[in-house]
Amino acid sequence: MVKYRMKKKNFLIIGGAGFIGRSIIKKIDKNKINIHILDLRDQNRKYFKNKKSIQIYNGDISKRQVFDQLKKKFDKVFFLAAETSTYLCEQNPLKCMRTNIIGMLNFSEWCRETKPKEIIFTSSMAVYGLKVKNIKETTELNPISNYGISKLIGEKIILQLNKIKIKIKIFRLFNVYGPGQDYNNLDQGMLSIYLIQALKNKKVLIKGSINRYRDFIFIEDVVDVMVSNFKTDKIPIYNLGNGKKIIVKSLLKKIFKNLDFNYKVIDIGAHTGDTFGSYANINKLRNKGFKPKYNLDDGLKKTIKSLRGINEYSRYFNR
Ligand SMILES: NC(=O)c1ccc[n+]([C@@H]2O[C@H](COP(=O)([O-])OP(=O)(O)OC[C@H]3O[C@@H](n4cnc5c(N)ncnc54)[C@H](O)[C@@H]3O)[C@@H](O)[C@H]2O)c1
Repeated sequence: MVKYRMKKKNFLIIGGAGFIGRSIIKKIDKNKINIHILDLRDQNRKYFKNKKSIQIYNGDISKRQVFDQLKKKFDKVFFLAAETSTYLCEQNPLKCMRTNIIGMLNFSEWCRETKPKEIIFTSSMAVYGLKVKNIKETTELNPISNYGISKLIGEKIILQLNKIKIKIKIFRLFNVYGPGQDYNNLDQGMLSIYLIQALKNKKVLIKGSINRYRDFIFIEDVVDVMVSNFKTDKIPIYNLGNGKKIIVKSLLKKIFKNLDFNYKVIDIGAHTGDTFGSYANINKLRNKGFKPKYNLDDGLKKTIKSLRGINEYSRYFNR
């Protein structure tokens, strides 16, 4: 009897050493896929040591030659690498634009040469503007930050690739949180920034009003959508949030209730480019069968449970 061996698919994750990238890798690594990771950071070598199905490349996407090492015909490319902090993009616009725009242009040129079958790009709610409620993908875009502008330009560059028959999916992510987030990075991730400060210091320094609001989506929900195959619409852009408005004040209460601490909040003043409020209308993704599995209470409990298991943080519990 002749045995046929299924050809393994090749997936590339650009920015695969980050929070969302690693979570995607954990999810797809269970399947029979060759995973290729490109990132500026080298931590993945230790993390994925001895895994034959994982190939690691290092380099800065703002340098065109970095892409020359990627010679395969890829079935899927997740493009996640970015300067991700709104605050740092205001502090250092040049670095932000170099990564988020020049990096994207280099990527796009490489795509034109190698023609991957599908690209999944992570844009952001920051493309919308200062104050948005139940926002739909078709709403006028009015970014107020360098980060938001860079993401909007990224979307436009990626959409051009649709014309050369590469499948595209663009997700406008809202506030993603959960296990695996970089808890040492206090410049990105509202929930993790507050949670770590609360845990360590029993007080939280907040930049801006506690009446601001956000849409928090748990990492497992994000990954489920990003790895799923669905038929895209003519404009393949999707809000990826929970669709629930959470006011900062209520988030802080939930954090302190879960940590069982008395707390103190100090407003140290907003920074430019900070969105006042936003939450998503997720009907377009709902129509594809997506329903978030986690509400904020459940997601927060899971996040705190995972923190208890990390040596660096476990000592702060039960004080
Ligand atoms: N986490 C969120 O709440 C959120 C919200 C909206 C959009 N996004 C977008 O989702 C994507 C992933 O976010 P994340 O939370 O995993 O961020 P992250 O900061 O954890 O990961 C980003 C990765 O990109 C890499 N990177 C940065 N500059 C690079 C460069 N010049 N060359 C190569 N690699 C580089 C970093 O080393 C890092 O590993 C980003 O595009 C981000 O803008 C995230």
